[in-house]
Amino acid sequence: MELQVEAEVERLAHARTRLQKAGVEAAAACVVLGSGLKTFGETLTNPLSVSFDDVPEFPRPRVAGHGGELIQGTIGDTLVHCLTGRVHLYEGWHPWELVRAVRTVALLGTGTFVLTNAAGGVREDLAPGDLMLIRDHLNLTGKNVLCGEHHDALGPRFPPMSEVYCAHARARLHSLDPKLVEGVYCQVSGPSYETPSEVKMIGLLGGDAVGMSTVPEAVALRAMGKRVVGLSLITNRAAGLSAVAPNHEEVIAEGKKAAQRMERLLTAAIPALA
Ligand code: HPA
Repeated sequence: MELQVEAEVERLAHARTRLQKAGVEAAAACVVLGSGLKTFGETLTNPLSVSFDDVPEFPRPRVAGHGGELIQGTIGDTLVHCLTGRVHLYEGWHPWELVRAVRTVALLGTGTFVLTNAAGGVREDLAPGDLMLIRDHLNLTGKNVLCGEHHDALGPRFPPMSEVYCAHARARLHSLDPKLVEGVYCQVSGPSYETPSEVKMIGLLGGDAVGMSTVPEAVALRAMGKRVVGLSLITNRAAGLSAVAPNHEEVIAEGKKAAQRMERLLTAAIPALA
């Protein structure tokens, strides 16, 4: 399906107007919540929730463990947005649809985006329950969200990706949680989990964790000049590295178990980053 960029920019403007009419304003940060992590939205004070059903431009998540709303609220004095779910390439969406919600929030004027995900640990020290701050990524999906007709409203034609994940923000997060490890997130298309040989290849290429999201949002937001932070919750050892094959139930269950540490870190980090 070919999408026209003029029409896409118009859809983003319509979606932004709908959010504004519902009371959503530019926030200090927007957190995108990955598989099993949607409860962070419930920790915000004075929450205002807008269902994606009220923003017909937004594709609706169809995967268990993903919500479908924008929650605006505060942490102390800091205004924050949460997107409680995302859509994935493997569901058949066009790459532009994957980033429509974050681009809309970016056009509202929100400047910092925290992208969270569930991922399989490839590097030896990454075990279920660990949090990994994303230092950089490898895109093994064969797709780049910026392909297709260009529009200056969405950033330059050839944006650099030399520092996708803000080094300054990473330093702040390390000071808040000295045990936080850092690594390279590798995105594959899914939906099948990797073969053991693919996991070996990802490790040889420099990937520390593997997952099925995040890169399109990170690239689209950096192209728009936004600050990006990435956090992977390791839900399982990647295929071939443990006796148990990766499975979605384990991913959701581990997400729920480790959600508290992620929530504590986000609650401390967001006002510090703002
Ligand atoms: N592979 C790909 N995506 C994932 C995994 C994995 O092992 N765990 C959670 N998301």
